[in-house]
Amino acid sequence: MKNIVIFISGRGSNMEAILRSISSGVLKGVCSVSCVVSNRADAAGLDTARTYGVKTAVVVSKGVHAAEYNRKLRETVDAFSPDYIVLAGYMKILDSGFVKQYPKRIINIHPADTSAHQGLHAYEWAFENRLKKSYITVHYVDEGVDTGEVIGKAEVDMVGATSLHDYEERGLAVEHRFYSEMLKNIFITENVAR
Ligand code: GAR
Repeated sequence: MKNIVIFISGRGSNMEAILRSISSGVLKGVCSVSCVVSNRADAAGLDTARTYGVKTAVVVSKGVHAAEYNRKLRETVDAFSPDYIVLAGYMKILDSGFVKQYPKRIINIHPADTSAHQGLHAYEWAFENRLKKSYITVHYVDEGVDTGEVIGKAEVDMVGATSLHDYEERGLAVEHRFYSEMLKNIFITENVAR
């Protein structure tokens, strides 16, 4: 059973999908969440995490010197000795020292093909380009922005989607299913390898 810490910055719908998979879906018996960490005190996902009885922590990033933020983040996370750190709508770039401390142990979901679009506003990008097919990527986090090794990609059919809302809705439906499936594959494969 893997011990994970989830990082969020806002709504936390991917985090909630993971928590649901743990209580009654594909992640049941596969992993548990020791803490949900947010860099924003007003992240709506914090309340959601608490309703699932999950411990939460806030390490404020805004207005804090990067070195100080990273020191506090490390201290907070290390206290839980996680096997994996799962980014779920975490909107900050992790410090390279932190990434090096958890090689192939930090996983992210990105709402586009990471080779086609990196960084923020991926659904806006897909909508503005009127893509008929888009992708959700799950990847390991390295020191770049959405440049880490790809673990899996899922297609999102955008045919008939006519607004940004449609693009997001279709993409999120895939994200919520796909992230848990990928996490299960990673965690179980690693158990077999050991
Ligand atoms: C999700 O679409 C996630 O893939 C994306 O932010 C949204 C967070 O929603 N992440 C990124 O763009 C990272 N570059 P959520 O807080 O409801 O999970």
